[in-house]
Parts: sequence; structure tokens; C-alpha cells
Amino acid sequence: MILIKIGGSVFSDKRGEPENFDSPTVGRIVREMAEFYPGEEFILVHGGGSFGHRHAGQYAIREGLSGNAERDGRKKIGFSFTHQSMLRANAAFIDMFLSQDLPAFSVSTSSVFVTEKGEVVYADMEILRRLLDLEFIPVLFGDVSVDVAQGIDILSGDQIMAYLTKMLRPKKAIFLMDVDGIYDGEPGEGTLIHELTRDEVPALLERLHCTAAGTDVTGGICNKLKKAYEMANYTEVWFVNGRVPGRLAGAIMGNGFGTRLR
Ligand code: ATP
Ligand code: IPE
Repeated sequence: MILIKIGGSVFSDKRGEPENFDSPTVGRIVREMAEFYPGEEFILVHGGGSFGHRHAGQYAIREGLSGNAERDGRKKIGFSFTHQSMLRANAAFIDMFLSQDLPAFSVSTSSVFVTEKGEVVYADMEILRRLLDLEFIPVLFGDVSVDVAQGIDILSGDQIMAYLTKMLRPKKAIFLMDVDGIYDGEPGEGTLIHELTRDEVPALLERLHCTAAGTDVTGGICNKLKKAYEMANYTEVWFVNGRVPGRLAGAIMGNGFGTRLR
């Protein structure tokens, strides 16, 4: 099985209109997957992009419930708004697969995972395992979550990637980003790293100033690299540009352009 995450900036323009969806790019990514299906099993996870983040920020979902009944009442509305927005993104993805005759199936993240401080602490893996056995392509997404510590939170796609890697041991995990891979500095300044070993990741995190306490947990390259460091215990991890045709196929075949971590 190959696990793929499509970052929010790959399938939508975060600074554009709310809920914009780049159908040509997603259609092309689906075509690249179709070349390998059903010989290869896939699970897809997509991010929020111009869908979930707006409501999540507006209602401060990451701060959890406050204990104040009136504020929490509004927050619960925002929790549901955020989820509905992610369901619309997910529906757009599923439509792209179905229109190419691929049996993608929506798995609603917040119905499968429970979190604590943004990390998965409970998951019902049964349905995912059975969908894979039946050769479906499960499609999950960064979503809101019910949280044991603070009532509600956000579960990011990168956290889902790490958890699924631990539980399902894919032969490869691929992050599709809007840059060519991992750079040894800010993109534009640093140079692209083609091969990265797990041992080299702690020093890289330091160089990217990711080691300070309180680093952003929902997104950004620091969280992604920390999760990839955990994942590299179990599988090889690729970071490739999802906006450039052929890069995903290259990562699937193992000779792609981007960063390989192992
Ligand atoms: P989204 O783009 O929606 O936030 P994502 O999962 O695709 O989701 P991010 O978590 O934002 O991606 O991480 C990728 C971004 O991190 C890149 O777009 C890039 O601008 C930024 N970035 C900062 N430093 C680096 C680096 N050293 N290597 C690669 N990307 C970096
Ligand atoms: C965010 O998911 C989900 C919500 C805001 C509800 P991700 O954190 O995986 O999304 P991207 O890839 O950064 O957009």
C-alpha cells in the first residue's frame, strides 16, 4: 500500500476565493495514480487549503472548548461549519476519482479518530483495513476532531499520515507539496535535498529552527518533518512537487525528483 498526502496548497489557492478547488491539477494527480491501480493499493489524505482553515481560525477551534456555555455554543457551530467545509473538499476529490472510474471512498476523519493535543489517541482501523481488502481507495482529510483533553481540536493530515504509517506499514509514504521537496533552508535560499537519512533529520530540524518549544503543530514544514522522522522508522518517505506533472509517478516508481527520506 502507498500512502499519499495532497497538501492544501497543491489543490487550492489558500489566498484565493473561499473553497476554490484546482480540478485540472487534482485530475492529473488522479491520472498518475490510475496508471498504477489496481496493481498498487492507495490511501489518500488531503489537507484543508482554502476549505477548512478559514472556519477553523475564525472559531479558534484549536483552542478547544472554554467551559463558558455561550462561547462553547458558538464554537460547536464553528466546529460543524469547519467539518462541512472539509466534506465539500472531500466530495470534490471523490468526484475526480469516480469520473476516472476509480473506486475512491470517503472516510470521514472525525468519525474514525479521537485526539489528545492534536495527536491521535484512538482510531477505528477496521473500516480502513476492510476497504483496502476490497480494493477501494480510501480518501481521508485533515479535519476537526473530538479531543479527550480539550473537547475539540483539529487533526491535521500530516498527523494522520504518521498514524496510518505506524498502523498499516505502507511500503512508501508520499507528501505532495507546492515546492520541489525539502530544502536545507528557506525555499529560494536553501538547496533542495535529494537524499535524506533518518539520522540527518534532527540536525536539519535545528537548522530550520524547528526545535524551539511550542512550534506550530497544525502545519508548516517543521511539523511535517517531525512526523516524517517518526514515519521513517517504518517506511521510506518522499516529498515531491504535486503541481508538476510526473513527480508523483516518479515517487511511486522510486526514481522521482524530490526528497527521499529513509
Ligand atoms: P499547506 O501548503 O496547505 O500548508 P502542505 O502540507 O502542502 O500544506 P506545509 O505544511 O505548509 O505544506 O509545508 C510546505 C511549505 O513549507 C512549502 O510550501 C514551503 O513554502 C514551506 N517551507 C519552509 N521551509 C521549507 C523547507 N526547508 N523545505 C521545504 N518547504 C519549506
Ligand atoms: C487542515 O488539515 C484541516 C482543517 C483546517 C480542518 P491540514 O493541516 O492537513 O491541511 P493543509 O495541507 O495544511 O492545508
